[in-house]
Amino acid sequence: MRIDILTLFPEIALAPLSESIIKRAREKDLVEIHAHNLRDWTTDKHRKTDDYLCGGGQGMLLKPDPIFAAIEELRSDNCQVILMTPQGKQFKQAIAQQLSTAPHLIILCGHYEGVDHRVIEQLVDIELSIGDYVLTNGAIAAAVVTDAIVRLIPGALGDQRSHQEESFTDPNMLEAPAYTKPNTFRDMKVPDLLLSGNHKKIDAWKKEKALERTRQNRPDLLQ
Ligand code: ADE
Repeated sequence: MRIDILTLFPEIALAPLSESIIKRAREKDLVEIHAHNLRDWTTDKHRKTDDYLCGGGQGMLLKPDPIFAAIEELRSDNCQVILMTPQGKQFKQAIAQQLSTAPHLIILCGHYEGVDHRVIEQLVDIELSIGDYVLTNGAIAAAVVTDAIVRLIPGALGDQRSHQEESFTDPNMLEAPAYTKPNTFRDMKVPDLLLSGNHKKIDAWKKEKALERTRQNRPDLLQ
């Protein structure tokens, strides 16, 4: 898989993708990740990427010309173009799963008040939001989406089982609480059942606790 991130702040997008699991996935050639500076496709001497809104209004918009030039250069036949924007469809695990099998993604990061709408109409396949809040910079959102996608590529996580039990693999259920050593810490004990070795009972306990936690933290998932 290849992922091209197009942003005014390539370092912001790349920093979280240069450590740990994603770093190793890149070293294993499971994914090639490139972050490009949109300014490299400007043609004026000030390397201007934004301009005022037509018809008036607060803030600045990303101009269409550098974005068209960049995407026309970077895109391939089998490529999907994603725009990171708070106006997008909510990014979820199921979308991460779909995108993890794509051969080539271009992720365009919004900045300021967003991008000229002709970019969305002509170039963008999917608009994605990582949540109902506004970040200063779409590069942060692009890193989030890239991380969630890349860890799903077979071989990226050492142990494939860790995918099966984690939250959102069943999109309607969170994970059960989990414990590690020591068995007693400051008078707080790990539940006896988890140390019993009875895997049937442990599985039933996990299901019950997962449901309890979902009811408490995310009742919307159970509706
Ligand atoms: N850019 C700014 N806020 C965002 C969000 N919540 N999701 C995606 N891109 C963004």
